[in-house]
Amino acid sequence: MKVIAVSGSPRKGRNTEQMLSSALDGAASRGAQTKLIRLYELNFTGCKSCLVCKRINAQRKCYVRDELSPVLEELTTSDALIFGSPIYFMELTGVLHSCPERFYFPFVTYGTERQTFFERKLPIGFVYTMNVTKDWLREMPIANRFAEVTETLFGVAPEIVCAYDTWQYPDYSKFEHGIFSVEQKKRHRDEEFPHELESARQLGITLVEKAAKFHDERTV
Ligand SMILES: Cc1cc2nc3c(=O)[nH]c(=O)nc-3n(C[C@H](O)[C@H](O)[C@H](O)COP(=O)(O)O)c2cc1C
Repeated sequence: MKVIAVSGSPRKGRNTEQMLSSALDGAASRGAQTKLIRLYELNFTGCKSCLVCKRINAQRKCYVRDELSPVLEELTTSDALIFGSPIYFMELTGVLHSCPERFYFPFVTYGTERQTFFERKLPIGFVYTMNVTKDWLREMPIANRFAEVTETLFGVAPEIVCAYDTWQYPDYSKFEHGIFSVEQKKRHRDEEFPHELESARQLGITLVEKAAKFHDERTV
């Protein structure tokens, strides 16, 4: 069983990567082989609309060749996937948009007979980390259209886990921070973030359990 986490954070070892590592630890605790992929280390673009993947009898894969190509092949053969992103302007980061854009589009059908070209169920999780608190989010929800089409394309609704009110700066005294309460952020980092990491760990476990169930269903 192979579980891959794709990070759309530019910052190594910070909030998003910690959440993803925790999710992968959870997956590994159930016997999965795990891998973290950092999109910011790769040179790639979003979909170029070459439309080769939409040609009659085309293989259902992205035909653009760049450093994302081998990653997309790995994602296609994985048993579960976790996309992780800091929230930038209430959305996923640009690179995290570009990756599922290329991964999802070949499986979108413009025909009428079927809803997806993906041939099996693939459990997918999304992990978001953000400055705002949970309360704040009610007024301005996060936009992620990929989460909305995941069930149609991959046969199962996505699991979503968030870390709120994240510790953004290494040292708040050196950066502008007037709109935030440093005390509240410290409290969140020390008391709430460990629970959010645990939720991410559970997400990894849930994805592996779902993947195992789908595998058993295919083989009976
Ligand atoms: C360009 C930029 C835009 C951001 N926009 C938002 C936002 O709209 N809402 C929010 O809650 N946090 C926003 N943030 C804060 C990050 O989402 C937050 O600090 C996140 O946890 C950082 O993840 P990281 O530690 O993995 O880099 C923004 C940060 C940057 C750099």
